[in-house]
Amino acid sequence: MFQVLSKSLIELEVNGEIKSIVVRPADTLLFALREQLGLTGTKDACGNGDCAACTVLVDGWPVKSCLMLAVEAVGHKITTIEGLKDIPIQKAFLDKFALQCGYCTPAFIINSHALVTIHPDANDEVIKEWLQSNLCRCTSYEEIKEAVKWVLGQ
Ligand code: FES
Ligand code: FES
Repeated sequence: MFQVLSKSLIELEVNGEIKSIVVRPADTLLFALREQLGLTGTKDACGNGDCAACTVLVDGWPVKSCLMLAVEAVGHKITTIEGLKDIPIQKAFLDKFALQCGYCTPAFIINSHALVTIHPDANDEVIKEWLQSNLCRCTSYEEIKEAVKWVLGQ
């Protein structure tokens, strides 16, 4: 006999606001953010943890939201690209032309913001290692690295 797993009502703290949503046990945080909360700045690309286009901040740390269940996010502070406003790394991406098609850009900005916040003294090696989880299909990583270094004052 199979047990039918039912939906449940949960509360998520997203970009400083408490949101109530109904989720299935297997719904990912990515699905909840995009399909239920309409926060489409978080991108759905590979869906299996390879590209990092779905990166959000969970309690300030970058997390691939396609690999986290929505129910696991209860009790944590979630920040999406829509929740980051007027931060230096956004201006740096523009000034350094660190994007082309832009599909990967929200997650690069999220990840870069976490990098400069957590590692204000990051050297080239740390920057390279930190950014290697994010895949971009159409631009150079050099400009992205330059944007990060500009924010770090290097
Ligand atoms: S969509 Fe999550 S890692 Fe690619
Ligand atoms: S700017 Fe196009 S995939 Fe990154």
